Amino acid sequence: MTGPDWAVVHPCRALNGRVAVPGDKSVSHRAAMLAALCRGPSRLTGFLRSEDCLNTLRAVEALGARVELGTEAITVTGGDWSAPAEPLDMGNSGTGLRLLAGLAAGRAWTTVLTGDASLCSRPMRRIQVPLESMGARVELLGAGGCAPVRVTGGALRGIRYAMPVPSAQVKSCLLLAGLFADGETAVEEPLPTRDHTERALQSLGLALAIEGNRIALCGFGPQGPRLEARDWRIPGDFSSAAFWLVAAAAVGEHITLPGVGLNPRRTALLDVLERMGAPCERRLETDPGASEPIGAIEARRAPLRGTVIGGAEIPNLIDELPILAVAGALAEGTTEIRDARELRVKESDRIACMVSNLKRLGVPVEEREDGLVVRGPARPAGGATADAFGDHRIAMALAILALRASGPVRLRGVACIRTSYPDFWQHLESLGAHVEHDRCD
Ligand code: S3P
Repeated sequence: MTGPDWAVVHPCRALNGRVAVPGDKSVSHRAAMLAALCRGPSRLTGFLRSEDCLNTLRAVEALGARVELGTEAITVTGGDWSAPAEPLDMGNSGTGLRLLAGLAAGRAWTTVLTGDASLCSRPMRRIQVPLESMGARVELLGAGGCAPVRVTGGALRGIRYAMPVPSAQVKSCLLLAGLFADGETAVEEPLPTRDHTERALQSLGLALAIEGNRIALCGFGPQGPRLEARDWRIPGDFSSAAFWLVAAAAVGEHITLPGVGLNPRRTALLDVLERMGAPCERRLETDPGASEPIGAIEARRAPLRGTVIGGAEIPNLIDELPILAVAGALAEGTTEIRDARELRVKESDRIACMVSNLKRLGVPVEEREDGLVVRGPARPAGGATADAFGDHRIAMALAILALRASGPVRLRGVACIRTSYPDFWQHLESLGAHVEHDRCD
């Protein structure tokens, strides 16, 4: 499944319609891994069939689960895990690699986890240090503490670990490893991060002690817990919805997004848009206490004004910062993103990538060590070429920015969008935009 690597996006006056955004990437990864630990078949509906999550399905298959890709649902049947014959290729996915490393650490064999060039340049010491203190051996085979990661596990003991950076991936890695440890594993996060792992474990009947930013569970030793299969309804991905929320406000006119995950640890972008003058309406479809709350969001055109984005809200909109930089470029006044140093170690250095692209498009922007400052309202330069540097969220953010340019904008390196949103271009066109694709690179 390779899409075109180029797109020419034409300016657009209004976007209208309804988009069913694809399944949540974070929840899909966790559902695939946890279903592979359960006895019996689990039916996963709404699973994100993107490159990243398909890689996770292939990985759990290589470990012993059975996976059937049906048209309505994906069925994962847990089995006895055994050492994979080959390295597990997690593609572009930090979540896939870091969470599976946690599960591999509980097994008395060696698992090698690897991925593409971007994944193999991302920091892995953040999982190596705590997993080694639990008793696993974690070798970082890439330069500078990066993947491939070779995990030799078994005989884990629970630890108390204060995470130096807020990271749901590290937290989840340790909680999953903790299931196979003796004793209690307790993780303290400096700021609250997305809690999909905690919710998923609780929905499987596991007891977690959650007090403030401390999450603890009692391990089951090397056998791990006995988990019964359950069906999963995976919500639409709020991070994918975010592109349409900003597009509706900044380009106009009215977009409805049904079935989106509204986990409060993911939706800080709604608070920021409200501050910027673009409140969105949300209607919960499920009980607010559901393991993952789901609802519809309505977004409308609104005159945006600049804001400051930082502090405790950063982890709850970390993946939305590229599109928020776009919102800032199109807003009246100054928008500052701060306290977001983590952006430098995502699928790309998202601060440097956004700054260089905003400059190419003639948008006034300053790079900061932990963020950026952008001054709007800008009219991006038609005729310019922007480069997504192989980062899916940069590519989609630039596509939205291009809708407000003074002429067509050429985007390079956009095939990566398939890692999280394979239907992005079709959805953009269904809302009324005009996009041309060619293969002239
Ligand atoms: C994710 C957590 C976040 C986020 C990533 C998905 C997850 O990363 O940026 O896209 O599924 O747990 P960190 O936890 O490393 O900040």
